[in-house]
Amino acid sequence: MLVAPTIDETRASLDAARARGERIGFVPTMGALHDGHCTLMKEAAAECDFVAASVFVNPLQFGANDDLARYPRPFGHDRDLAEAAGVRLLFAPSVEEMYPTAVITTVHVEGSLGEVLEAAHRPGHIDGVATVVAKLFNIAGASKMYFGEKDWQQLCVVRRLAADLSFPVHVIGVPTVREADGVALSSRNAYLSPTERAKAPVLYRALEAGRHAIEEGERDPAEVESLMRARLDGLAIDYAAVVDAQTLSRVAPLSGSVRLLVAARIGNTRLIDNIGIVLT
Ligand code: PAJ
Repeated sequence: MLVAPTIDETRASLDAARARGERIGFVPTMGALHDGHCTLMKEAAAECDFVAASVFVNPLQFGANDDLARYPRPFGHDRDLAEAAGVRLLFAPSVEEMYPTAVITTVHVEGSLGEVLEAAHRPGHIDGVATVVAKLFNIAGASKMYFGEKDWQQLCVVRRLAADLSFPVHVIGVPTVREADGVALSSRNAYLSPTERAKAPVLYRALEAGRHAIEEGERDPAEVESLMRARLDGLAIDYAAVVDAQTLSRVAPLSGSVRLLVAARIGNTRLIDNIGIVLT
């Protein structure tokens, strides 16, 4: 596996693979890799001839009170896991390589996707993600790009980004990888103390309780949301919502493809999770 710290080397390696007629798969990450990331890489390796991944902790998507400084950066470990998952090229740029000058050109996401849920609770986050992903789309070129359903709003945003700005990429969503107790794998789980980790399954249980209520016939989103909130009792809740799966806007009564999403803090660690249900 080649580790490329620059955009030029990454483009050269991908251009050479394309010239050999290989189909490119690209997996953007912020490192601190776990089985969730590796599942994206393995899926890319199964569907493509040449898999590239990036490890870049993108400062643009962190707010002033976020965990940018303490975000884990175990690079040697990441390199080994990426290689074992079938990655042939690991793009690992510095902040200076990605943003050599103060950034004055960014991608701004409008509408409900850019306003609700994560956008409402983490000002600048969604635009920061859209901006770095637009750069990665341009660096990767024509390719399949893999994103996890774990970050559902991010997946919706990057799909719209690719469509609205005509990037030559095909966005693939990959289902959330969970621990046996339902907790979604996340680089941020490493922050949890053993006592906090023991509380973490409550997010998935709240989502399942919401889905169960819908399966039993509940169609009022407010009822489903208050049920989920009750299950998250004791945690600092940012949101517990059930919304249209694509636009993330409110649907009442619930119909079509809907998504249940929660964000809550356990101690100082903010966790997010989501599941879907299709109503016929
Ligand atoms: P990061 O949190 O490192 O996640 C990289 C990719 O792995 C994302 O697409 C994310 O949804 C996916 N992922 C994380 N945990 C997962 C799990 N348990 N199951 C399945 N997929 C999972 O998301 C980012 O980085 C950044 O915002 C990025 C897109 C790289 C832009 O900076």
